[in-house]
Amino acid sequence: MQNVITSAENLNFSLADIPSMPLPDRVLMVEPTYFSVDYVINPHMDNNVGSVDKEKAQTEWETIKRALAQIDIATHTLDGQEGLPDMVFCANQSLPFIDEDGKKQVFMSIMHAEQRKEEVPFIEQWFRQDGYEIHYLDESKIDDFEGCGDAIWHTGKKMLWGGYGYRSSVKAYKRIAETFDLPIIALELVDEAFYHLDTCLCVLDAQTALIYPGAFTDEGLKLINAVFDHVIEASEHEAKTLFACNATCPDGKNVIIQKGCTNVNSALRDAGFTVHEVDTGEYLKSGGSVFCMKQMVW
Ligand code: ARG
Repeated sequence: MQNVITSAENLNFSLADIPSMPLPDRVLMVEPTYFSVDYVINPHMDNNVGSVDKEKAQTEWETIKRALAQIDIATHTLDGQEGLPDMVFCANQSLPFIDEDGKKQVFMSIMHAEQRKEEVPFIEQWFRQDGYEIHYLDESKIDDFEGCGDAIWHTGKKMLWGGYGYRSSVKAYKRIAETFDLPIIALELVDEAFYHLDTCLCVLDAQTALIYPGAFTDEGLKLINAVFDHVIEASEHEAKTLFACNATCPDGKNVIIQKGCTNVNSALRDAGFTVHEVDTGEYLKSGGSVFCMKQMVW
């Protein structure tokens, strides 16, 4: 089995061949105390510097935390850090994993933007005290890798989808695939408004994905359509303005998503998912929504 797959031609296995992996049942979140838009590192942040309503941001964050607790995910929270306004997007600093023997491991990220690099050690500390074995990428060989912003688990399977082009290098996936001994289907991202894979691909369950097609190459779309039986497509408006694809479906049944994604939400309901709408308006100003405001952990 090839480790990093970048073309449909090289897809030499089917999902049934991939070993199962337990779903994570805990979630890590970072308090939004110091969240704000202080700089511009993605197109969504443009014109939003200084515009975050702190009180609203706190309320929105608490609503997401409650929505996760309601679907029986145990929440762990970490303090935010002054001067690290994006640390609240805690999907980005790490990629956690559990192996067949139940050993918990994590790759720490190499953040693309200078402004976010100092977030990583704070997140690492949490994994360390929780008993995770910590892996690092070689910074002399790999430029960047932004954790679960770009590396997304295929629900219940020992397989990853890996986005590259803006915040993560395809080279990172080779090292991760070898260390965790799993295949990674790598997808090139081609629209800077969709700079992380979690802005344009949401794995809903083992058979179903929600995507924004305009963010991918033809080859990427071929790969997605080859693996998933059912692909729901978000419109440009719902994907770009409302971050529909940055939803999360931690249990393969309940989808927590930015409110107002009318077409996506009706497609989700038609496909049998339970939809929980939340407001992430303050975080959209920073180019993030539900998926990246939490990290699923074992
Ligand atoms: N302002 C943050 C950044 O540009 C937002 C990160 C959102 N995370 C995500 N996985 N989409 O890095």
